[in-house]
Amino acid sequence: MRIPLARPDITRTEVDAVLKVLSQDVLSRGPVLQRFEQCVARRLGVGHAVGLSSGTAALHLSMVAVGVEPGDEVITVPFTVPATVNAILASGARPVLVDVEAQTRGMDPERLEQAITPATRAVVVVHAFGQPAAMARIERICRSRDLVLVEDACEGLGSSHQGRALGSIGRTGCFGFYPNKQITTGEGGILVTSDSDLAERVRRLANHGRSMDGAWLDQQEVGWNYRMSEVQAALGVSQMQRLDGILEARRQVAAWYAELWPESVPLKLPAYWPDPEIAWFALVAQLADPADRDGLIACLADRGIQCGRYFAPMHRQPAMARFGWKHDDFPVCNQLADSALALPFFTTMTRAQVAEVCRALADWRAANPV
Ligand SMILES: Cc1ncc(COP(=O)(O)O)c(C=O)c1O
Repeated sequence: MRIPLARPDITRTEVDAVLKVLSQDVLSRGPVLQRFEQCVARRLGVGHAVGLSSGTAALHLSMVAVGVEPGDEVITVPFTVPATVNAILASGARPVLVDVEAQTRGMDPERLEQAITPATRAVVVVHAFGQPAAMARIERICRSRDLVLVEDACEGLGSSHQGRALGSIGRTGCFGFYPNKQITTGEGGILVTSDSDLAERVRRLANHGRSMDGAWLDQQEVGWNYRMSEVQAALGVSQMQRLDGILEARRQVAAWYAELWPESVPLKLPAYWPDPEIAWFALVAQLADPADRDGLIACLADRGIQCGRYFAPMHRQPAMARFGWKHDDFPVCNQLADSALALPFFTTMTRAQVAEVCRALADWRAANPV
């Protein structure tokens, strides 16, 4: 597509950093990974960051490292990507879904409270599109009910909530660096925590359960290979060094959309607009009439403009049929998912490209009057 939904921002700095790593002998478990981890930990104000192969790995290891076991229940939301629920399933626990709020598009604290049972062990909150969930209330509930709070902040690097970085609020915070994210390492992820024992365990679990102190052959528990390579970390360091500029550029793109938005189009912009605490991940607007969505996506595609649907609700996935969730169990999630339209949004997007998308939206409306 001429104007894609997302596009990574890779400059000469990233290319040089990757080439430098490739010219050396250490391609895994080296100093560049340590640097990347330090950059992220410092930025988020946490004690530890462990670079991993994906955001999914960060979520899975969060479950295992905080002690989630088969027989436990873990509460999360249906308005997310499969990774969130898959990670819970990988730990052997049972996922319990609660609906989201329309305003934050994140977990509804009241519904969370109602879903807690004696088997509940942890809560995985998802910050959809980088917008914070209702963290103050969720944190209070988790503390009072002795539940572990894990943040799926895969879409929220750089966002904060009442001055606290997303990912730094829960026992662990999980980030993913797929190429559509605020920063990318190609594929990759990171787990952050201020608990040093937990961080050490995550390092071990990501290395097949082997100790990280040089006793390479000493396997202390069952783990996996979830390691991040030096090449990925080199990309990550360069991107982190540019993070402020990247976030500023994305705020500018959001501001252009606000400025050029055609009044005639029945699409609602995100409710948090404009909020300086939000690090923009994607621009997901809500259509007044979900029936318009397929036609609108096709119309924009004809003009070389790519749009998308975020998210496909978890309770409606064939892979989840065994849990018996019904289509109408989560009405707010359904409403958000069915009306969501993700528009092109990336760091290097120009004002002219935003104008072109907005013009295409206005033309679609003119050709399809209410
Ligand atoms: C909300 C959310 N959770 C988890 C993930 C999983 O991250 P990864 O694709 O790096 O495994 C993603 C990324 O797509 C995500 O957007």
